[in-house]
Amino acid sequence: MEPVKIGIIGTGNISDWYLRGAARSNLIKVKAIADIRLDVARAKAETFGTQAVTVEDLLADPEIEIVMNLTLPMVHAEVSRRILEAGKHVYVEKPITATFAEAGPILKLAREKGLRIGGAPDTFLGGAHQAARGLVDAGAIGRPVGGAVTFMTRSSAHRYANPTFFIFKQGGGPMLDMGAYYITQLINIMGPVKRVTAVSTNGIPRREVIEGPLKGSVIDVEVPTFHNGAIQFANGANVAISLSWEVHRHRRSHTEIYGTEGSLTMTDPNFFGGTPQITRGNGDWTDIDTSAYAFGKPNRVMDDGRSEGDYRMIGVVDMAMAIRNNRPHRANGDMCMHVLEVLEGFERSSNEGRHIEIATPCERPAAVPKGTDEEVFTV
Ligand SMILES: NC(=O)c1ccc[n+]([C@@H]2O[C@H](COP(=O)([O-])OP(=O)(O)OC[C@H]3O[C@@H](n4cnc5c(N)ncnc54)[C@H](O)[C@@H]3O)[C@@H](O)[C@H]2O)c1
Repeated sequence: MEPVKIGIIGTGNISDWYLRGAARSNLIKVKAIADIRLDVARAKAETFGTQAVTVEDLLADPEIEIVMNLTLPMVHAEVSRRILEAGKHVYVEKPITATFAEAGPILKLAREKGLRIGGAPDTFLGGAHQAARGLVDAGAIGRPVGGAVTFMTRSSAHRYANPTFFIFKQGGGPMLDMGAYYITQLINIMGPVKRVTAVSTNGIPRREVIEGPLKGSVIDVEVPTFHNGAIQFANGANVAISLSWEVHRHRRSHTEIYGTEGSLTMTDPNFFGGTPQITRGNGDWTDIDTSAYAFGKPNRVMDDGRSEGDYRMIGVVDMAMAIRNNRPHRANGDMCMHVLEVLEGFERSSNEGRHIEIATPCERPAAVPKGTDEEVFTV
């Protein structure tokens, strides 16, 4: 089968991850990439063996079927609209749009045009998350009744050349930047969210940039950077959530799920692999064998020396195969919009002093079957 041809708009930091992922796939091929900074796109095209073109030429290329929107959140809606109007399927980095209000019209446009919309994160398709889901589906912890998720650091300011964008200003903060990984990880296990509630605060309203060109400058923090909330899933499970950029150290794990017959700890949802653990009742924690599942093995050494499974792009590969085989794709627009409604719901709940019911319909995506890399998506 001919690989499905992909285009990428937005060739900043995260595009490297996807271009690396694309290079590992025989099912898709990145035919062209584009950016308003054409020089940046050209340099990237040279590194990854593709071609840089203008946004207009990319959208006019009849061979390109799916266009990835890896631009910044504030232009996600506008760029996705152009992609759909050019008659192409779109796959968007998270969040699907900068605000929940912008998402509905984009999904509607896709539906009207008979085109697909998909979006990040695709980490839940990774081996560790699918192996854990397989055990929950088989009843290994009984019926899930609760859980807890935690992402707490002092801040991410040091990681960005310009950290003010999606970190400390409107449209940013720990919930909008990191929450999608956790909520999507939980939906993969338990299905859609029914309602959320939270206390969201801004405990450190002025921050000093600690690295990069803006080092030493002070940022006014405009958004809450500490959220403590609770999520009730449609299946009834009650999950605590803490996301913060105000914590130096803590001893809580990423994601735990508590069932009537046992407990589960899951791995970092920003990555695909790792070793989840399970208990039967009150017994000892035991490692879950993830080896029968694709996209979990460590394949990348990170800057801090640890090894991780980095398979960003498999959501696009799944979408490409779903188009060919006329089946639903897993990292889909409905779920992205549902997740964004949840993420905005925490701050709304805190501001309005009430629980927020989540209205966007979302179905739990199909499990990824056991098998080797890529073969699992071809059916
Ligand atoms: N950097 C990360 O670690 C990371 C991780 C996960 C997800 N993301 C998400 O990926 C997206 C991109 O983040 P990034 O870190 O790569 O940002 P970035 O600023 O490095 O790259 C964004 C690129 O988009 C281009 N661009 C902006 N508007 C455009 C337009 N209208 N048309 C064409 N190109 C345009 C910019 O010139 C820039 O090269 C964001 O939605 C972010 O939330 C980033």
